[in-house]
Amino acid sequence: MNRLFRWFGALGLMIGILGAWGCKRNATEGAGGASKPVKKKGHKGMHHHGKDHHKGDVKYKHHDMQHDFSDVKRYAKIFDDPARKAWQKPEEVVTKMQIKPGMAVADIGAGTGYFLPFLQSAVGEKGSVEGLDINGPMVQHMKERIQKAGWSQVKARQVKMDDPQLQAASLDRVLIVNTWHHVANRVEYAKKLKAGLKPGGAVYIVDFTMEAKRGPNKKHRLEPQQVIKEFAEAGLKGRLIPSSLPDQYIVEGAL
Ligand SMILES: C[S@@+](CC[C@H](N)C(=O)[O-])C[C@H]1O[C@@H](n2cnc3c(N)ncnc32)[C@H](O)[C@@H]1O
Repeated sequence: MNRLFRWFGALGLMIGILGAWGCKRNATEGAGGASKPVKKKGHKGMHHHGKDHHKGDVKYKHHDMQHDFSDVKRYAKIFDDPARKAWQKPEEVVTKMQIKPGMAVADIGAGTGYFLPFLQSAVGEKGSVEGLDINGPMVQHMKERIQKAGWSQVKARQVKMDDPQLQAASLDRVLIVNTWHHVANRVEYAKKLKAGLKPGGAVYIVDFTMEAKRGPNKKHRLEPQQVIKEFAEAGLKGRLIPSSLPDQYIVEGAL
Protein backbone atom coordinates (compact mmCIF):
# COMPACT_ATOMS: atom_id res chain seq x y z
CA MET A 1 0.00 0.00 0.00
CA ASN A 2 2.82 2.37 1.04
CA ARG A 3 4.54 1.67 -2.23
CA LEU A 4 1.40 2.61 -4.15
CA PHE A 5 1.24 5.98 -2.33
CA ARG A 6 4.92 6.61 -3.06
CA TRP A 7 4.36 5.81 -6.73
CA PHE A 8 1.43 8.24 -7.01
CA GLY A 9 3.47 10.87 -5.11
CA ALA A 10 6.34 10.57 -7.60
CA LEU A 11 3.92 10.74 -10.54
CA GLY A 12 2.34 13.92 -9.08
CA LEU A 13 5.75 15.58 -8.68
CA MET A 14 6.70 14.77 -12.30
CA ILE A 15 3.43 16.20 -13.62
CA GLY A 16 4.05 19.33 -11.52
CA ILE A 17 7.54 19.85 -12.97
CA LEU A 18 6.48 19.29 -16.58
CA GLY A 19 3.53 21.64 -16.08
CA ALA A 20 5.75 24.36 -14.67
CA TRP A 21 7.90 24.38 -17.80
CA GLY A 22 4.72 24.44 -19.80
CA CYS A 23 3.70 27.51 -17.84
CA LYS A 24 0.27 27.73 -19.47
CA ARG A 25 1.53 30.47 -21.76
CA ASN A 26 -0.02 33.83 -22.28
CA ALA A 27 -2.84 32.83 -24.58
CA THR A 28 -1.46 32.93 -28.08
CA GLU A 29 -2.08 30.79 -31.12
CA GLY A 30 0.88 31.20 -33.38
CA ALA A 31 -0.49 30.56 -36.89
CA GLY A 32 0.84 32.93 -39.48
CA GLY A 33 2.57 35.14 -36.94
CA ALA A 34 -0.71 36.81 -36.02
CA SER A 35 -1.12 35.91 -32.38
CA LYS A 36 -4.63 36.03 -31.06
CA PRO A 37 -5.84 35.54 -27.52
CA VAL A 38 -7.37 32.21 -26.61
CA LYS A 39 -9.87 32.01 -23.79
CA LYS A 40 -10.01 28.91 -21.68
CA LYS A 41 -12.92 27.82 -19.55
CA GLY A 42 -12.47 26.97 -15.91
CA HIS A 43 -9.47 27.15 -13.62
CA LYS A 44 -7.71 23.92 -14.28
CA GLY A 45 -3.99 23.36 -14.42
CA MET A 46 -1.47 25.39 -12.43
CA HIS A 47 -3.31 28.69 -12.14
CA HIS A 48 -3.22 29.25 -8.40
CA HIS A 49 -5.85 30.96 -6.32
CA GLY A 50 -4.16 31.48 -3.00
CA LYS A 51 -4.92 34.57 -0.95
CA ASP A 52 -1.84 36.33 -2.31
CA HIS A 53 -2.90 35.65 -5.85
CA HIS A 54 -2.76 39.24 -7.01
CA LYS A 55 -0.35 40.63 -4.47
CA GLY A 56 2.47 42.83 -5.74
CA ASP A 57 2.12 41.55 -9.25
CA VAL A 58 0.55 42.02 -12.65
CA LYS A 59 -3.20 41.51 -12.50
CA TYR A 60 -3.85 38.00 -13.71
CA LYS A 61 -7.17 37.83 -15.51
CA HIS A 62 -8.74 34.61 -14.36
CA HIS A 63 -9.49 33.20 -17.77
CA ASP A 64 -6.64 34.37 -19.98
CA MET A 65 -4.22 31.47 -19.47
CA GLN A 66 -1.38 33.69 -18.22
CA HIS A 67 0.45 31.54 -15.74
CA ASP A 68 0.96 32.82 -12.21
CA PHE A 69 4.62 32.47 -11.19
CA SER A 70 4.17 34.23 -7.82
CA ASP A 71 5.06 31.12 -5.82
CA VAL A 72 8.76 31.84 -6.23
CA LYS A 73 9.95 29.24 -3.72
CA ARG A 74 8.24 26.53 -5.69
CA TYR A 75 9.55 27.71 -9.07
CA ALA A 76 13.07 28.28 -7.73
CA LYS A 77 13.20 24.56 -6.97
CA ILE A 78 12.33 23.78 -10.58
CA PHE A 79 14.12 26.56 -12.49
CA ASP A 80 17.28 26.46 -10.38
CA ASP A 81 17.46 22.70 -10.06
CA PRO A 82 21.18 21.84 -10.52
CA ALA A 83 20.11 18.96 -12.79
CA ARG A 84 18.89 21.56 -15.31
CA LYS A 85 22.44 22.34 -16.36
CA ALA A 86 22.74 19.01 -18.20
CA TRP A 87 19.97 19.89 -20.69
CA GLN A 88 19.85 23.69 -20.47
CA LYS A 89 23.58 24.08 -21.14
CA PRO A 90 23.67 27.74 -20.03
CA GLU A 91 27.36 28.21 -20.87
CA GLU A 92 26.72 27.06 -24.44
CA VAL A 93 23.73 29.39 -24.77
CA VAL A 94 25.81 32.33 -23.56
CA THR A 95 28.69 31.38 -25.90
CA LYS A 96 26.26 31.33 -28.85
CA MET A 97 25.21 34.87 -27.95
CA GLN A 98 28.78 36.05 -28.60
CA ILE A 99 28.77 38.37 -25.63
CA LYS A 100 31.89 40.48 -25.24
CA PRO A 101 33.12 42.12 -22.02
CA GLY A 102 31.49 45.50 -21.55
CA MET A 103 28.29 44.65 -23.41
CA ALA A 104 24.78 45.59 -22.22
CA VAL A 105 22.51 42.55 -21.96
CA ALA A 106 18.89 41.97 -20.92
CA ASP A 107 17.25 38.68 -19.95
CA ILE A 108 13.50 39.01 -20.56
CA GLY A 109 11.21 36.65 -18.65
CA ALA A 110 14.23 36.05 -16.45
CA GLY A 111 12.18 34.29 -13.72
CA THR A 112 14.34 33.43 -10.73
CA GLY A 113 17.44 34.68 -12.57
CA TYR A 114 18.84 31.31 -13.62
CA PHE A 115 20.88 32.87 -16.44
CA LEU A 116 22.13 35.91 -14.48
CA PRO A 117 25.37 34.33 -13.16
CA PHE A 118 26.36 33.25 -16.67
CA LEU A 119 25.46 36.58 -18.27
CA GLN A 120 27.18 38.69 -15.62
CA SER A 121 30.37 36.71 -15.94
CA ALA A 122 30.27 37.10 -19.75
CA VAL A 123 29.84 40.91 -19.68
CA GLY A 124 32.37 41.37 -16.88
CA GLU A 125 32.55 44.30 -14.50
CA LYS A 126 32.33 46.92 -17.21
CA GLY A 127 29.21 45.45 -18.76
CA SER A 128 25.60 45.43 -17.55
CA VAL A 129 22.84 42.86 -17.19
CA GLU A 130 19.14 43.44 -16.56
CA GLY A 131 16.76 40.68 -15.50
CA LEU A 132 13.27 41.68 -16.60
CA ASP A 133 10.03 39.96 -15.66
CA ILE A 134 6.33 40.74 -15.41
CA ASN A 135 6.07 38.94 -12.09
CA GLY A 136 6.69 41.12 -9.02
CA PRO A 137 7.76 38.33 -6.62
CA MET A 138 10.16 36.96 -9.27
CA VAL A 139 11.73 40.41 -9.65
CA GLN A 140 12.03 40.76 -5.87
CA HIS A 141 13.68 37.32 -5.74
CA MET A 142 16.16 38.38 -8.44
CA LYS A 143 16.95 41.59 -6.55
CA GLU A 144 17.77 39.58 -3.42
CA ARG A 145 19.87 37.13 -5.46
CA ILE A 146 21.80 40.00 -7.06
CA GLN A 147 22.43 41.67 -3.71
CA LYS A 148 23.57 38.40 -2.10
CA ALA A 149 25.96 37.71 -4.97
CA GLY A 150 27.26 41.30 -4.88
CA TRP A 151 26.92 41.84 -8.63
CA SER A 152 27.17 45.61 -9.01
CA GLN A 153 26.52 45.53 -12.77
CA VAL A 154 23.27 43.47 -12.55
CA LYS A 155 19.76 44.86 -11.98
CA ALA A 156 16.23 43.47 -11.96
CA ARG A 157 13.13 45.31 -13.11
CA GLN A 158 9.42 44.56 -13.42
CA VAL A 159 8.05 45.15 -16.91
CA LYS A 160 4.70 45.13 -18.68
CA MET A 161 3.36 42.03 -20.37
CA ASP A 162 3.28 43.70 -23.78
CA ASP A 163 6.31 45.96 -23.40
CA PRO A 164 9.81 45.30 -22.04
CA GLN A 165 10.22 49.11 -21.75
CA LEU A 166 13.71 49.18 -23.21
CA GLN A 167 15.61 52.39 -23.76
CA ALA A 168 16.06 53.04 -27.48
CA ALA A 169 19.28 51.56 -28.91
CA SER A 170 20.60 50.60 -25.45
CA LEU A 171 21.27 46.85 -25.66
CA ASP A 172 23.84 44.62 -27.37
CA ARG A 173 22.12 41.34 -26.53
CA VAL A 174 18.68 40.19 -25.38
CA LEU A 175 18.04 36.67 -24.09
CA ILE A 176 14.53 35.17 -23.82
CA VAL A 177 14.45 31.60 -22.47
CA ASN A 178 11.30 29.45 -22.34
CA THR A 179 9.20 32.60 -22.43
CA TRP A 180 8.59 33.59 -26.10
CA HIS A 181 5.60 31.22 -26.27
CA HIS A 182 4.00 33.26 -23.43
CA VAL A 183 4.12 36.52 -25.33
CA ALA A 184 0.95 37.72 -27.04
CA ASN A 185 1.27 39.82 -30.22
CA ARG A 186 4.81 38.64 -30.69
CA VAL A 187 5.49 40.63 -33.87
CA GLU A 188 4.61 43.88 -32.10
CA TYR A 189 6.73 42.79 -29.15
CA ALA A 190 9.67 41.94 -31.44
CA LYS A 191 9.46 45.46 -32.92
CA LYS A 192 9.97 46.81 -29.39
CA LEU A 193 12.98 44.52 -28.95
CA LYS A 194 14.40 45.77 -32.24
CA ALA A 195 14.05 49.39 -31.12
CA GLY A 196 16.00 48.55 -27.95
CA LEU A 197 19.00 47.12 -29.83
CA LYS A 198 22.24 48.97 -30.53
CA PRO A 199 23.74 48.64 -34.02
CA GLY A 200 25.12 45.08 -34.22
CA GLY A 201 22.70 43.97 -31.49
CA ALA A 202 20.75 40.71 -31.44
CA VAL A 203 17.96 38.86 -29.65
CA TYR A 204 18.19 35.17 -28.76
CA ILE A 205 15.09 33.05 -28.26
CA VAL A 206 15.64 29.70 -26.55
CA ASP A 207 12.51 27.58 -26.44
CA PHE A 208 11.32 23.99 -26.51
CA THR A 209 11.22 22.01 -29.75
CA MET A 210 8.12 20.08 -30.80
CA GLU A 211 10.00 16.84 -30.15
CA ALA A 212 11.30 17.72 -26.67
CA LYS A 213 10.33 15.43 -23.84
CA ARG A 214 10.00 18.40 -21.48
CA GLY A 215 8.31 21.75 -22.03
CA PRO A 216 4.79 23.10 -22.44
CA ASN A 217 1.90 21.25 -23.98
CA LYS A 218 2.76 20.69 -27.66
CA LYS A 219 -0.08 22.88 -28.88
CA HIS A 220 1.58 25.84 -27.15
CA ARG A 221 5.06 25.27 -28.57
CA LEU A 222 6.40 27.29 -31.48
CA GLU A 223 8.47 25.94 -34.35
CA PRO A 224 11.75 27.84 -34.78
CA GLN A 225 10.61 28.75 -38.32
CA GLN A 226 7.62 30.48 -36.76
CA VAL A 227 9.91 32.58 -34.56
CA ILE A 228 12.08 33.43 -37.60
CA LYS A 229 8.96 34.49 -39.51
CA GLU A 230 7.82 36.71 -36.63
CA PHE A 231 11.27 38.30 -36.48
CA ALA A 232 11.19 38.95 -40.23
CA GLU A 233 7.81 40.68 -39.86
CA ALA A 234 9.32 42.84 -37.13
CA GLY A 235 12.35 43.72 -39.29
CA LEU A 236 14.90 41.43 -37.61
CA LYS A 237 17.08 38.93 -39.50
CA GLY A 238 16.20 35.57 -37.97
CA ARG A 239 18.26 32.41 -38.18
CA LEU A 240 18.50 29.12 -36.36
CA ILE A 241 21.76 28.80 -34.42
CA PRO A 242 23.12 25.23 -34.42
CA SER A 243 23.53 23.96 -30.87
CA SER A 244 23.79 20.75 -28.86
CA LEU A 245 20.82 21.56 -26.61
CA PRO A 246 18.76 18.37 -26.53
CA ASP A 247 15.30 19.90 -26.00
CA GLN A 248 15.46 23.49 -27.20
CA TYR A 249 16.33 25.52 -30.26
CA ILE A 250 18.12 28.86 -30.34
CA VAL A 251 16.89 31.48 -32.79
CA GLU A 252 18.85 34.67 -33.31
CA GLY A 253 17.16 37.85 -34.44
CA ALA A 254 19.75 40.38 -35.55
CA LEU A 255 19.41 43.99 -36.67
C1 LIG B 1 9.13 29.43 -17.77
S1 LIG B 1 9.61 30.86 -16.95
C2 LIG B 1 11.29 31.00 -17.55
C3 LIG B 1 12.19 31.70 -16.60
C4 LIG B 1 13.65 31.85 -17.06
N1 LIG B 1 13.77 32.45 -18.37
C5 LIG B 1 14.34 30.51 -17.05
O1 LIG B 1 14.62 29.98 -18.14
O2 LIG B 1 14.60 29.98 -15.96
C6 LIG B 1 8.78 32.18 -17.77
C7 LIG B 1 8.99 33.54 -17.11
O3 LIG B 1 8.56 34.54 -18.04
C8 LIG B 1 7.81 35.53 -17.37
N2 LIG B 1 6.97 36.14 -18.40
C9 LIG B 1 5.87 35.64 -19.01
N3 LIG B 1 5.41 36.49 -19.94
C10 LIG B 1 6.26 37.55 -19.93
C11 LIG B 1 6.33 38.78 -20.67
N4 LIG B 1 5.40 39.08 -21.60
N5 LIG B 1 7.34 39.65 -20.40
C12 LIG B 1 8.27 39.37 -19.45
N6 LIG B 1 8.24 38.24 -18.70
C13 LIG B 1 7.26 37.34 -18.95
C14 LIG B 1 7.11 34.78 -16.26
O4 LIG B 1 6.71 35.63 -15.21
C15 LIG B 1 8.17 33.77 -15.85
O5 LIG B 1 8.99 34.26 -14.82
